[in-house]
Amino acid sequence: MGRMPVIAGNWKMHKTVPEARALARAVRAGADGARHCLTVLAPPFTALAAVAEELRGSALLLAAQNVHWEARGAYTGEISIPMLEDLGCTMVIVGHSERRQYFGETDLTVNRRVRALVRSSLQPIVCIGETLAEREAGNHYEIVFQQLAGGLDGLTAGDALRIILAYEPVWAIGTGRTASPEVAQEMHAAIRGWLAARFGGEAAGAVRILYGGSVKPENIGALMAQSDIDGALVGGACLEAESFLRIVHYDSQGSQSKGGQVHS
Ligand code: PGA
Repeated sequence: MGRMPVIAGNWKMHKTVPEARALARAVRAGADGARHCLTVLAPPFTALAAVAEELRGSALLLAAQNVHWEARGAYTGEISIPMLEDLGCTMVIVGHSERRQYFGETDLTVNRRVRALVRSSLQPIVCIGETLAEREAGNHYEIVFQQLAGGLDGLTAGDALRIILAYEPVWAIGTGRTASPEVAQEMHAAIRGWLAARFGGEAAGAVRILYGGSVKPENIGALMAQSDIDGALVGGACLEAESFLRIVHYDSQGSQSKGGQVHS
């Protein structure tokens, strides 16, 4: 089973509705023809409806940046899975390091979101990654495996086929200090090994593992050349259509999906 690459733009807390419309329109114009990858836009909640409208009829996909695990209820300030499905979302970013760092997200709450998402039509993009201190202490594999074990607890191999992972070393996010392709590949291969041990070969071969952390037009090519890097979660460089489109078109020749035949 092949792994169609995913290039996802995480807009974080940027763009008003008119700004979001303009960016979505420009990205659509430049990315709709891309057949070598899936292009995903993750605007803030407030712009999802407008961006959904701008993307209608295109091949681009819409993602949210977070979601609550309950379908409804007295949870002031939260957004549910049915609300996102209703808006046309197909993916949700879960457990981003900024949510872990500033908003108390833990592996347990990541797991609640993931369990709810695998039972829905939405695909979770589950973020994992170590801090600089953890890497310098040599604990990076242990930390990432812990995040995987906690975040994916209770999932079956079938559930695992529905998830996307994003390895985002915290020291590379928004710092301009990207992981070298070799360092990223090493971790991606380790994550795939963990998936194989936990869920078996089919899931390990099928799950896409995106890299995130200072992905730019200048480094995307070398990252995508690595055998276990199946796409990118892009922050800063996705806020301008020009730089995001250069990332989407990392392979202007149009490449084939990794690991075999094309499949999304
Ligand atoms: P960055 O953010 O590209 O600005 O480093 C990536 C992310 O946080 O997903």
